[in-house]
Amino acid sequence: MVELAPSILSADFARLADEVAAAERGGGTVIHVDVMDGHFVPNITLGPPVVKSLRKVTTLPLDCHLMIENPDEFIPEFADAGADWISVHYEACRHLHRTLELIAQHGMQPAVVINPATEVAVLRPILGMVHHVLVMSVNPGFGGQKFIPYSLTKLRQLRELRQELGLSYRIEVDGGVAHDTIVSVVENGGELLVAGNAVFGDGKAEQNARELLDTARKAAEVESWGPVA
Ligand code: DX5
Ligand code: ZN
Repeated sequence: MVELAPSILSADFARLADEVAAAERGGGTVIHVDVMDGHFVPNITLGPPVVKSLRKVTTLPLDCHLMIENPDEFIPEFADAGADWISVHYEACRHLHRTLELIAQHGMQPAVVINPATEVAVLRPILGMVHHVLVMSVNPGFGGQKFIPYSLTKLRQLRELRQELGLSYRIEVDGGVAHDTIVSVVENGGELLVAGNAVFGDGKAEQNARELLDTARKAAEVESWGPVA
C-alpha cells in the first residue's frame, strides 16, 4: 500500500498546524519531520519542542528523520515529545545496531536511512530490526532538489531483499518526489512517499497531496496487476 508522508520542511512554519491539517485533508497519512543539526547536514531546522507541538495537533504518525550527529543522545527527548517513528542515518551511527535497539526500547519504531552514495547491501545485518528503510533520493539538507535516478535501483534491491529474507520492513523514499517522479518511484518499490516541496511549495497543500496520492495509487494498482501485455 502506498502512503503519502508530507515533509513539513517546505511548510510555512508560522502556520504549521494549518499546513499539517491541509496535508491530512488531502490524504497524507504520515507527517515527515526533518531534523537537521548543521553538522551532519549543512542546514539547521527543528527539534523536540516542535515535535511536541505537532503532537497536539495531529494523531498521524510523526516520522522523525534525524539528520544529526550522535542521535543516541536525543532519542529519549524525541520519545518524550511524542515521536512515533525515528530514522537514523547509517552514515551518522557508529553503532547502528545499538541505536536501533535504543529507539525500540523507547517505544518508537526504528528505521534506517541511507544517503545517495551508500549501498543497500550494508544494511543487510540490521534489516530485521527496522520498521522501514528510508532511501535518500537527494543529498540530505534541503528541500526542492532534483531526484537522483540511481535511487530507483536501491528501491528494487530493497524489495528483492525483503522477499529473500522474509521480512516486512516498508520502503520509504525522500527527496525530489513530485508529479514527474512519483510513478517511477512507486513502480520500483517506493511505498512511503515523502514529499516536501511538491506538497507545501505553493500554499496549496490539500490539493497537491490529493493529486500526488491519486497518481501514486494509480501507479500502485498497475504495479500490483503486473505489466499489461
Ligand atoms: C531533505 C529532507 C526531505 C525534504 C524533501 O534533506 O530529508 O524530507 O523535505 O523535500 P522535497 O520533497 O522538496 O525534495
Ligand atoms: Zn526527510
